[in-house]
Amino acid sequence: MDRSLAPDHLATLVGDFPRTPAYRGLRKALEELIGDGRIPLGTRLPSERAVTRVLGVSRNTVTRAYADLVAAGFATARQGAGTYAAVPLDRRRAHDHALHALGTAASTEGVIDLNCAAGAATPGVAAAYERAMAALPAYLASDGYLPSGLPALRALIAASYVRRGLPTAPEQIVITSGALSAIAIIARALSRPGDRIMIESPVYSNAIEALRLGGGRLVSAPMADPLGDEGWDLAAIEATLRQTSPRAAYLIPDFQNPTGFLMRDGQRARYAAALRATRTTAIIDETLQSTCLSGDPMPAPFAAHATDAFTIGSASKLCWGGLRVGWIRAPRSAVDRIIAARVQMDLGSSLFDQLVVAEMLEADGALATRRTQLRQRRDALAQALHEHLPGWCFRLPDGGLTLWVKMPHGSATQLAADVERKGVYLAPGPVFSVEGGADTWLRIPYAKPEEQLVQAVRIIADAWSESARDTGHRRNATRRLIA
Ligand SMILES: Cc1ncc(COP(=O)(O)O)c(C=O)c1O
Repeated sequence: MDRSLAPDHLATLVGDFPRTPAYRGLRKALEELIGDGRIPLGTRLPSERAVTRVLGVSRNTVTRAYADLVAAGFATARQGAGTYAAVPLDRRRAHDHALHALGTAASTEGVIDLNCAAGAATPGVAAAYERAMAALPAYLASDGYLPSGLPALRALIAASYVRRGLPTAPEQIVITSGALSAIAIIARALSRPGDRIMIESPVYSNAIEALRLGGGRLVSAPMADPLGDEGWDLAAIEATLRQTSPRAAYLIPDFQNPTGFLMRDGQRARYAAALRATRTTAIIDETLQSTCLSGDPMPAPFAAHATDAFTIGSASKLCWGGLRVGWIRAPRSAVDRIIAARVQMDLGSSLFDQLVVAEMLEADGALATRRTQLRQRRDALAQALHEHLPGWCFRLPDGGLTLWVKMPHGSATQLAADVERKGVYLAPGPVFSVEGGADTWLRIPYAKPEEQLVQAVRIIADAWSESARDTGHRRNATRRLIA
């Protein structure tokens, strides 16, 4: 079914636009609204006649504005059906919530891929592969299908929750092919078409599409000021819960991706109470739990406050994304439902990779090295930003893998397209926002080596000053025309 934009809503969104000339002002306003996602892609724009009426402009103005919008790639005209919001090819990725590494091979010459918040394997992974190879023969006589996972790995993961203060039996753990697959499995197991699922915004963008897999409708709860200290606006979250009574809520309390916030104990208790009041099931993504850089003790797991919560973990940040091992800690009564949902998609995760992760969990010391490395990288990125882009703002997070950075003005989508031409891949704010928007924000991960980060910031700063020069020229030209 088409999604249409009501004429009055368009008038509110467009607001007061420059009318010298009106067709250009209207086209620019629409371009900006489509560019930052406030008019979602594929939305049918109101008819020319309706726009003429609500904006009080001539029909010619609207015809010309729509034609120019189509010529610039921000709309497509379908014969007899109307005009639909689109984005030019080079910007399409900003509106596609699917985020993945673009440079693929480590050897992709001259490209710095900061699209994906992931780095090389933790030291010790290669040795764990060797030990796993030695352990493998014992399993080769079995059929190798393990829909709930390798028993030894389930036991190790359950023990890690017990150490964090959350009693957990191995039977409550289901191993998945990464955390993203865990999100999709839980969405399928929990939601029916039309159910509401509450989600933070901005948020880890792949979760947006994975949560929709069960047919649920997403309701977003905006995070608090990204430059402040709170992270979660609990009053707004409580109001959203009361108004929408969602079936489930997906949250990332440990170093929220992309903002980096860590939810405090008191906030967890209050959030969990609010979820209980509306019988909303918590889906807790702890993928970044292992990336604490402050050395302070971590708060108790969210599930310690919400016994019916589903918790997601992953070996990707702990060990290596190439392993594709994640897991779900489910309430005992829901384990069978999770396994049933998982076998609709795959029959189990790679047994060998599970052996590698089990070897890593048994080895000591690797994580400490990883954290020291990440701390140095985070600080190097922050230092380079202060030095080369002094007007840009961000909060230094105590963990996670990303800085969430505010540009003083301009479009992050445009800047990401500009730096891509110079060999740096970056994800602009709208990628992380459920409804679009956030186009003055950029997510810059610090999982790559320091020299690459510093080089990337230099390239971003170059593109930024070039675009500022262009904007300055455009402004001066406009001033000359008006004068
Ligand atoms: C919050 C969050 N959840 C899930 C994932 C996906 O993890 P995996 O590689 O285990 O699928 C990521 C990856 O960055 C993430 O940041």
